[in-house]
Amino acid sequence: MRRGGGLITLEDLATYLPAWRDPVQFEYRGYTVTSMPPSSSGGATLAAMAKILEGYELGDLAWHSAAMVHLLAEVWKRAYADRNTYLGDPDFVEIPLDSFVSASYAASRRSQISLERATPSTAVGPGLESYERDHNTTHLSVVDGAGNAVAITTTINSFYGIKAVVAGAGFLLNNEMDDFAAKPGTANMFGLVQGEVNAIAPGKRMLSAMTPSIVSRSDGSLFYVVGSPGGATIITNVFQNISNVVDYGMNVAAALAVPRIHHQHLPDRIDYERGSLAPTTIAALKAMGHAVRERFDPSSLYPYIGDIQAIMVLSDGTLEGASDPRRGGAAVGY
Ligand code: DON
Repeated sequence: MRRGGGLITLEDLATYLPAWRDPVQFEYRGYTVTSMPPSSSGGATLAAMAKILEGYELGDLAWHSAAMVHLLAEVWKRAYADRNTYLGDPDFVEIPLDSFVSASYAASRRSQISLERATPSTAVGPGLESYERDHNTTHLSVVDGAGNAVAITTTINSFYGIKAVVAGAGFLLNNEMDDFAAKPGTANMFGLVQGEVNAIAPGKRMLSAMTPSIVSRSDGSLFYVVGSPGGATIITNVFQNISNVVDYGMNVAAALAVPRIHHQHLPDRIDYERGSLAPTTIAALKAMGHAVRERFDPSSLYPYIGDIQAIMVLSDGTLEGASDPRRGGAAVGY
């Protein structure tokens, strides 16, 4: 740090310790999902999405039909509006986690969704009124022979972090500061527009979107282990993946290979991977008032959406693992 003119002192490093926090846990259509707590927004936002979507028979809507994509986009833009407003490091800000993921709040969010028309993101604010404001990435899913499961996502933010290796130490420095709202109200690298709760403060943890998650069946048995990189898209990636297996009955390989879509409140736009939406579906979504954009710019750092690594435990105990074809991971068993 001294050599590179950095700000961080030995004392800063010594006092920055891992924080043990209880995972976020919620029910989705009879399954129990255990996921990452704040200071990642992943588990809480995943729960908020699931609670709103439980009020709809999602699996009855044809997969990637205009009706299905519209519904997900409407739910996601609301969940991200809340995420960007209410979530930050719980050591610094009071987070209304219970209300955020409650059935009654989900019902009130549902009541604002039209199944025919897109609500412009400018008309979608954060929904919890009572809350007072006090003033590159890798995922591993592991299951062992005894049925223990681990979901780990780890990040240095963008590719190669700040693109500097500490000479003699051999590791890269991250650029995680971009996960803070460096200037509240202004978009970060992933286009997330976040507020004061996630402003920079000494010793504070930045708001992540990492969503390592473990899904169990209603009898408590392990069903699914999942996670992904992808910046702001991580939460919708993981949600789609869980929904693909729970709502659409896909196997693990199909669930992570099929093309994905994304909406994060701002920009007010549905992104879709090449090949994921039929021209008629895109036309129908535009007619509903959505902006729709194909995410395929080979020069972009993130032309695709995410990189899921998942393991499914079949009811007979067989493990099926799959690695996303997007970035070149691998599924291994031994
Ligand atoms: O913690 C976060 O939300 C970000 N640092 C993740 C960045 C990321 O996934 C980049 N890789 N695609």
